[in-house]
Amino acid sequence: MSYQECINCHTEYDINEIVYFCKKCGDILEIKIDLEKAVKTVKAGYYKQQVALSVWRYRGFMPIQETTSTVTLGEGGTGLHHSKRLGEVLGLTNLWIKNEGENPTGSFKDRGMTVGVTKAVELGAKHVICASTGNTSASLAAYAARAGIRCTVLIPSGKIAYGKLSQAMIHGAKVLQVRGNFDEALKFVLDLAEKHRSIYLLNSINPFRIEGQKSLGYEICEQLNYDAPDRLIVPVGNAGNISAIWKGFSEFYNVGLITKLPKMTGIQAVGSSPIVKAFKSHSSKIVPIAEPETVATAIRIGAPVSWKKAINAINESHGTAETVTDDEILVAQKMLAQIEGIFVEPASAASIAGLIKLVRNGIINKDERIVCVTTGHGLKDPDTAIKMCEKPIEVEAEMSAIENALGIKS
Ligand code: F0G
Repeated sequence: MSYQECINCHTEYDINEIVYFCKKCGDILEIKIDLEKAVKTVKAGYYKQQVALSVWRYRGFMPIQETTSTVTLGEGGTGLHHSKRLGEVLGLTNLWIKNEGENPTGSFKDRGMTVGVTKAVELGAKHVICASTGNTSASLAAYAARAGIRCTVLIPSGKIAYGKLSQAMIHGAKVLQVRGNFDEALKFVLDLAEKHRSIYLLNSINPFRIEGQKSLGYEICEQLNYDAPDRLIVPVGNAGNISAIWKGFSEFYNVGLITKLPKMTGIQAVGSSPIVKAFKSHSSKIVPIAEPETVATAIRIGAPVSWKKAINAINESHGTAETVTDDEILVAQKMLAQIEGIFVEPASAASIAGLIKLVRNGIINKDERIVCVTTGHGLKDPDTAIKMCEKPIEVEAEMSAIENALGIKS
């Protein structure tokens, strides 16, 4: 049987108990999958029976009862794009982009939400909630609509990207804009879920979200023909995703589907980088940042809930962590869009900016096989993209004016 376990004192909790923090020590939980059972499904070729890559292809690895129907919009199965042109610019031969903007609501959050909302329905929840810098709320609103249950999202005031806000609103979530930042909004939803037990919390503190997101790691292995990359680079905010991807790789390794593990490389924006600071100073704790700041609003987080899992993933995998400036993020966003045709939001471009910095600093070996995860679609935040580009040129509706503007002789 799969169960929940505290990452610190290893106290075990039933898979169906609604518990977000360890009752003994207060640390966060993770799910221990019955890998023996999962192995059987692998041996029986269970997950290979489903042709298309998707989160539910790995149902045998998910802590959901066999009889439960899934709340799905067709998540996962995103492209792993060989990035030849950007690779050439950076002198890398083996660079890949795992583009999570191809998910139903435009971000990797859908992998976690399909499992999280399926679990919510399995537990009988009628009302789900999250705090969000934008993408989590967009995704939860969509999956709650799909399941026909009530949804409330708390977002920070100001800086949330409009694309994400429009998604949460159109899917019918109750949107509360808290006068404060993400970390403050998260505290409120944690307290609300403790106080009102009928409200089910779906931030990435909820380990069922992490279970869905771990499929990102599985998929990359399959797309590389049952091999892991040498290095995986991912932007880090609340730190659920890096922990989830590492769990995915580790589980595939533990059941013998792959024989090596990648170096997990986490990238944060300079103004919101408590995990990078802790990693670089070999500290066993993070120091939260009271007023995090970055153009990459998705990762504008000062007190990441899953910091311990993230630092474990980086250390266990002999990986690294690095910061990037807002300028570096915006340059990387434009480069990826113009050299590879992949439009990502600023937070996602942090992985590319981190790659560029680590190559320049000689940390990355030029022949490493590298996968950069781009976490969300560029259309989530069109305002930032428009600010980065030349304005459209307004011309008279005449051929000569158009030729003139193009510098072509008539
Ligand atoms: N990239 C994007 C586009 C995100 O939306 C997020 C997180 C991250 C990276 C970082 O992932 O938190 O698992 O380390 N967005 C959350 C939200 C916080 O509310 O949408 P993480």
